[in-house]
Amino acid sequence: MGLACGQIGKVYLVGAGPGDPQLLTLKAARIIEAATVVVYDRLVSDAILAMVPKGAARIDVGKRPQHHPVPQEEINRTLIGLAKAGRTVVRLKGGDPFLFGRGGEEAAALAVASVPFEVVPGITSAQGGAAALQFPLTHRGLATGVRYVTGHCRAGEALALDWTGLADAQTTLVVYMGLASIDLIVSELIRHGRSPDTPALAVSRATLPDQREALATLATLTDAVAAEHLTSPTLIIIGEVTRLARITGHIGHAALVEQMAAAP
Ligand SMILES: C[S@@+](CC[C@H](N)C(=O)[O-])C[C@H]1O[C@@H](n2cnc3c(N)ncnc32)[C@H](O)[C@@H]1O
Repeated sequence: MGLACGQIGKVYLVGAGPGDPQLLTLKAARIIEAATVVVYDRLVSDAILAMVPKGAARIDVGKRPQHHPVPQEEINRTLIGLAKAGRTVVRLKGGDPFLFGRGGEEAAALAVASVPFEVVPGITSAQGGAAALQFPLTHRGLATGVRYVTGHCRAGEALALDWTGLADAQTTLVVYMGLASIDLIVSELIRHGRSPDTPALAVSRATLPDQREALATLATLTDAVAAEHLTSPTLIIIGEVTRLARITGHIGHAALVEQMAAAP
């Protein structure tokens, strides 16, 4: 995919998944392997970046020298500028581009600028993490639904979530970007009625070779995360389904399956 002289190019908003390159869609893999310009985020794994052809231009918009992220408007301008110069641009984003990835803002900016674009979905880290730890996000008898929320709030603003709804015992709660506000999340859920004994876990760098996890209860989650020294990117998952996570030393599949089979 190269320069199309005098013509407007195209932007592919591609989900890179949680990290393991085997979890890319076939379409994403083909697009990455044919790329001539890649604009990528911090969360795109090295193994996936290694699939980009050697001669391709790589633009890292994940962070700047003092760890400041590149402003979204600047990323939008970069994508539009490259496409208007006739380039076919691969915009690589961690997980799924439309789940807490600001992919919607990029799509809107491209549409407004009349730049053609295509969205290639990716496996979101919730799916990647649950699969890696071998537990389902919904399960008959344990969870009737799952909710994805962000634990990130803008500087100076409170984390305004639907705590009452999220405290529902039948809901699996997945918190993206929740590490910095883990204390608040735990205490608000308990204050709104979620049992402190609810099984919970945190998984960092899910699906990557250095994946780490902490299995706990809601009440012990903060300490477990600190004890395991989990750092970003970490996903927090709260709910009965996390009992099924197969982590040595904790209740695993076999025990739970037996327990559930014995249930009326
Ligand atoms: C800006 S959001 C991007 C989410 C992404 N679009 C997705 O669908 O997974 C970043 C957050 O996603 C979660 N995350 C992304 N990749 C992860 C991974 N491999 N392991 C654990 N959490 C991950 C973390 O909570 C991280 O703070």
